[in-house]
Amino acid sequence: MVKHLLSAADLDRASAVHVLDTAAEMAATQAREIKKLPTLRGRTVVNLFFEDSTRTRISFETAAKRLSADVINFSAKGSSVSKGESLKDTALTLQAMGADGIVVRHHSSGAPHLLATAGWVDASVVNAGDGTHQHPTQALLDAFTIRRHLAGRGAAGAGASLDARSGVGHDLTGLHVAVVGDVLHSRVARSNVQLLTTLGARVTLVAPPTLVPVGVEAWPCAVSYDLDATLDEAPDAVMMLRVQRERMSAAGGGFFPSPLEYSRLFGLDARRLAALPGHAIVMHPGPMNRGLEISAEAADSVRSVIVEQVANGVAVRMAVLYLTLATKES
Ligand code: CP
Repeated sequence: MVKHLLSAADLDRASAVHVLDTAAEMAATQAREIKKLPTLRGRTVVNLFFEDSTRTRISFETAAKRLSADVINFSAKGSSVSKGESLKDTALTLQAMGADGIVVRHHSSGAPHLLATAGWVDASVVNAGDGTHQHPTQALLDAFTIRRHLAGRGAAGAGASLDARSGVGHDLTGLHVAVVGDVLHSRVARSNVQLLTTLGARVTLVAPPTLVPVGVEAWPCAVSYDLDATLDEAPDAVMMLRVQRERMSAAGGGFFPSPLEYSRLFGLDARRLAALPGHAIVMHPGPMNRGLEISAEAADSVRSVIVEQVANGVAVRMAVLYLTLATKES
């Protein structure tokens, strides 16, 4: 694998399947009584978070610890960033402390790329979400979850042998995934469109016109403004996106008339849940706005794999840390 993971576009089909297969091996180790592996003993991983996170930060920390790395958690709140310290000087500090891997979340799109390419650090850089740009490990854990549930429903990838339990060796060819909601502000949607199509799935983005990015016609997916019409196509997975109210407020608001109208037209409620095909799964990257983009019935239903996505995040991040760090020279 590449030294850094900055974007879902860094992965071609073979390398994406390799990450998913490695994650399946990692997941198997997590079912053991002793979950810890010695793989990254002696390596230091820094979680560098300039933006809030629950799932991503905790699962990267858990993943690094399960691989026996030393872990340093850095949050911009409470650090010298609040005194005006730059990304460069923060990076030079991490370099001086001997970081081997830096997991970075930043409010500015492109910050992980700058960190990886500016020459400030020797460490491998993993993007844990940058602005509205990319969140590649979220897309990988989503693909991993889809594969676990739906492998074998699409046509098998060329030459792939199917492990019926986990989908090892399989891509997502033939599957249809609907990604619904605030696409405009969503790094999860951008990453998933790239990764899921690389893996052979068909993706339909569903959103009000005000929440569709300019230039979306160049993306490798279909776009719909009608959720019910897309559900009539019987998608295999429905991924609901968080309405990012904080980014909407910062932009002056006005993206939809009212939460009630948004929910009525684009929310996954009990009626729409019942209209899904029997095998379809319901996904959400979290955090959820219950009652807005997803109802409690849908979030807590037997079709929901939302909690499983979080659990799979640990195995996928173990795989990414292993593949970017374990083969580096000490
Ligand atoms: N899905 C996701 O990135 O969640 P967090 O913001 O809690 O990390």
